[in-house]
Amino acid sequence: MRPTDRIFVALDMPEVEGARAMAKNLSGLVGGVKLGLEFFMAQGPAGIRAAMEGTDLPLFLDVKLHDIPNTVAGAVRSVAPLAPAFLTVHASGGPDMLRAAADAAADEAARLGIARMRILAVTVLTSLGEDDLAAIGQRGPAADQVRRLAAMAQASGVDGVVCSPAEVALLRADLPADFTLMIPGIRPSWAAKGDQKRVMSPAEAVAAGADRLVIGRPITADPDPRAAAQRIAAELGA
Ligand code: C5P
Repeated sequence: MRPTDRIFVALDMPEVEGARAMAKNLSGLVGGVKLGLEFFMAQGPAGIRAAMEGTDLPLFLDVKLHDIPNTVAGAVRSVAPLAPAFLTVHASGGPDMLRAAADAAADEAARLGIARMRILAVTVLTSLGEDDLAAIGQRGPAADQVRRLAAMAQASGVDGVVCSPAEVALLRADLPADFTLMIPGIRPSWAAKGDQKRVMSPAEAVAAGADRLVIGRPITADPDPRAAAQRIAAELGA
């Protein structure tokens, strides 16, 4: 994988024009674009298509699906024509839901004659503390629950997980080398931390075992987003 391929730029904005301009501006300098619930709920599939127009960057559709297996499989089929490279579901939806998502991704790609989207499972949201885990009936500590959910996700046929920098090394040791670890909470030393508390630099995260890095504001809020992306790629050895 080229260093630039590792970088998925998070476009956390509700408007099509801003997202499209940023995606276009970063073509060739990052490995893909992450669009999430804020954008999808406001703009829908047509907005995703519009935002990605004029760029051949892969799409990471981060909508964190969580429902009964039949409904999640249907949702996966519904977004398949957008040809996302990655799509997120919640690991806590359980083995049958994860399997249904993975199977639907494979079946629908074959039917449409397109590349199969990779399903990533979200383990424990980093917004949940130990008290929150207890309140929803999940056994902590959080790192143990992340490992349990990641192992279950891998056994259920999905392609990887999203996890925080704090868990990358643990999960890399537990899981096969081809199991994708997609990591947000990345801050180059020169960027503001913003509301991220436990962060790692791009090079540290890759050294710990990350495959792909989700990076938002260090690129999008920089006065020169192209230069920021190039600095990050250089830090990764480009
Ligand atoms: O701007 P920043 O680099 O902090 O953006 C990181 C992206 O990753 C955002 O889209 C954020 O929602 C997402 N994310 C995160 N921490 C998590 C999970 C997702 O920052 N634990």
